[in-house]
Amino acid sequence: MKRIGVLTSGGDAPGMNAAVRAVVRKAIYHGLEVYGVYQGYNGLINGNIKKLELGSVGDIIHRGGTILRSARCEEFKTKEGQAKGIEQLKKFGIEGLVVIGGDGSYRGAQKLTEQGFPCVGIPGTIDNDIPGTDFTIGFDTALNTVIEAIDKIRDTATSHERTFVIEVMGRDAGDIALWSGLAGGAETILIPEDPFNIDEIVERLRKGQERGKKHSIIVVAEGVMSGTEFAQKLKDATNMETRVSVLGHIQRGGSPTAFDRVLASRLGARAVELLLEGKGGRAVGIVNNKLVDYDILELFDMPHQLDLKMYELSKELSI
Ligand code: F6P
Repeated sequence: MKRIGVLTSGGDAPGMNAAVRAVVRKAIYHGLEVYGVYQGYNGLINGNIKKLELGSVGDIIHRGGTILRSARCEEFKTKEGQAKGIEQLKKFGIEGLVVIGGDGSYRGAQKLTEQGFPCVGIPGTIDNDIPGTDFTIGFDTALNTVIEAIDKIRDTATSHERTFVIEVMGRDAGDIALWSGLAGGAETILIPEDPFNIDEIVERLRKGQERGKKHSIIVVAEGVMSGTEFAQKLKDATNMETRVSVLGHIQRGGSPTAFDRVLASRLGARAVELLLEGKGGRAVGIVNNKLVDYDILELFDMPHQLDLKMYELSKELSI
C-alpha cells in the first residue's frame, strides 16, 4: 500500500482532529502518502480530495471540530453513490481509507468493505454508542462540557430552590446522560436503556423534599424524550414547576480533553498499522485500555453495552 485516504463523517466530535493528525503522521512516518477527503462521504462522491503533508495537521491536536469538515450524506447510502465514491478513490490512486465517525460513518465504511475496498473505522462520536470499544473519541470532552453546565445549573437551582430538567445528547444511547448524571450528582437520570416509571421519580423527589432537599437535577437523555416533554409529564403528575435546559450542540464543540487526544492518537495510529499489515475491513477500539480491532462487517452484531451497574450506583448515591 502506497497511498491512503482519511475522512471524518457524521456528527463531529472533539478529538477528531487529533485522530486525523495521528493517521497522517503515522502514515507519512511509514512512507505512505495521505489524502484528506473533505466533507465526509459528500466529498468522496464529489472528489473533494487533497494531499495532506506533515504540516497540514500541525497545530490541530487541541482544536475541536474537524479540519476535514463533516457531513451527513444520503447519497452514499445508495449503490450509485458508493460507486461514485469508489471511482474517486481509484482516480486518486487511494488504496485504503480510514473513516472516523459514528454509526452512519461505519455503515458507509461497511459498504466500501463489501465492495472490496479496504477501510478501517475509528469510533469518533460524542455518543459513545459504537460496539467494540469502551470509549469513542469525543465522549470524554462532551461529558466534561455537560458537567460544567450541570455545575452551573446547580448553582442557580440551589439559589431558587428549583428542579431542573437537563436534556443531553446521545442519540439512542444513554451514556452521556448516565456518566454526566453520576459525575454531576443528579437526583434522577433517564436513559433509553431503562424505561422510566414516573411514580418512582415522583416518590424519589418527594423523599428528597421530606429530608429537606430544596432543589433537584434531572438529566434526560434525548433518546428518552425531550426535556420539555418530560417536564410536562412531571407537571401533570405533581403540578411541580420546573426549568428546562437543552444543552444541544455545545456538547459537540470545544478543545478535546487529554483523554480524547490520547485515545484519538492511539486509535489513529493503529488504523494505519492495520492498513500497512494489509488488514482492511476492520474497526478499531479500546477495551480495558488495550487496542482491539474487529471485522467491521460484524461490528453491529455486537451490542453496545451501557454500564448498568453504574446506573444502579447512580440511583444508590442519589437517595
Ligand atoms: O451523533 C452525535 C449527535 O450529536 C447526537 O448526539 C445527536 O442526536 C445528533 O448528533 C444531532 O445531529 P445534528 O447535528 O445533525 O442535528
